[in-house]
Amino acid sequence: MEAQLLRHAMLWAREAGTLMKKMLDDELHIEQKKNDSDLVTQADRRCEELLRNRLAQVYPGHWILGEEMDGGIDSYTAFKQRGGGYGWIIDPIDGTTNYIHRIPHFAVSIGIVKDGQPVAGVVYNPLTDELFHAVKGGGAYLNDARIQVSQKERRLSEAVLATGFYAGDWHEESEALPQIKRFVGSCRNLRMNGAASLDLCWVACGRLTGFWHRGLHPWDAAAGSLIVTEAGGRVTDRFGAAFHLAMDSLVATNGWTHDEITSIFLMDVEESYVVWRDKEEKAFKS
Ligand code: 2AM
Ligand code: CA
Repeated sequence: MEAQLLRHAMLWAREAGTLMKKMLDDELHIEQKKNDSDLVTQADRRCEELLRNRLAQVYPGHWILGEEMDGGIDSYTAFKQRGGGYGWIIDPIDGTTNYIHRIPHFAVSIGIVKDGQPVAGVVYNPLTDELFHAVKGGGAYLNDARIQVSQKERRLSEAVLATGFYAGDWHEESEALPQIKRFVGSCRNLRMNGAASLDLCWVACGRLTGFWHRGLHPWDAAAGSLIVTEAGGRVTDRFGAAFHLAMDSLVATNGWTHDEITSIFLMDVEESYVVWRDKEEKAFKS
């Protein structure tokens, strides 16, 4: 069953990819969602529509969660409410800001879950014609070639990491800033590529050693998180707990560097504990 679902997901991802590529030639109709950093285009909507139509025709009994039609709601709650059975979690264009600026790094992401667990995933970059895919238990692939996380970088000091700011976190008090500061000088270098699903696939094929992000929606990670684990990598929340799609923090690595990376995030907790303890002590003494 999952192999058949994957074949359809690959076919439709290519179709949506071709459409978004074609629409790049025309003027982009851009709308603001919340502010200048949170944008959507007609291409996002048209690609989601295409995917929803194909799905409704072929799998009318499966549920769908998509960024553009379900984006106005709390996506974690929406995901949990979808319940059991097969479901399709879609980001028609991951990397919309790149798309708008014509930076050739965006993708369509399609994750398939069964009873809430990812069972298949496809991420397709139409400009590089790279199609990443995986079925649970069947390994991960880039086009026809099997992929694996990097075995070369085994320490944080050797790691090339990626992260990003989600639209709502792009401000001076962003939680990403102190986290980035901790990695400056302790890893090999850092990238911000602007498309979470592709960052995950790049961990899976060994281009990146690791990736972390806050505030991702289920459609950003549904396909990519499975592709990483099927490529032999590790995916957890920022404290090392098993990842699921309703979590708001994600760390994906080649495995070797995982504990060193998550230990950096534990420093945040220790720091806020020290602030809390000092406050309590002061209050007690006064
Ligand atoms: P998008 O292009 O589909 O919006 C950039 O670091 C990554 O964060 C992209 O994958 C981007 O997806 C995602 N992102 C941007 N804004 C977001 C938001 N408000 N909530 C969650 N993820 C977001
Ligand atoms: Ca998107």
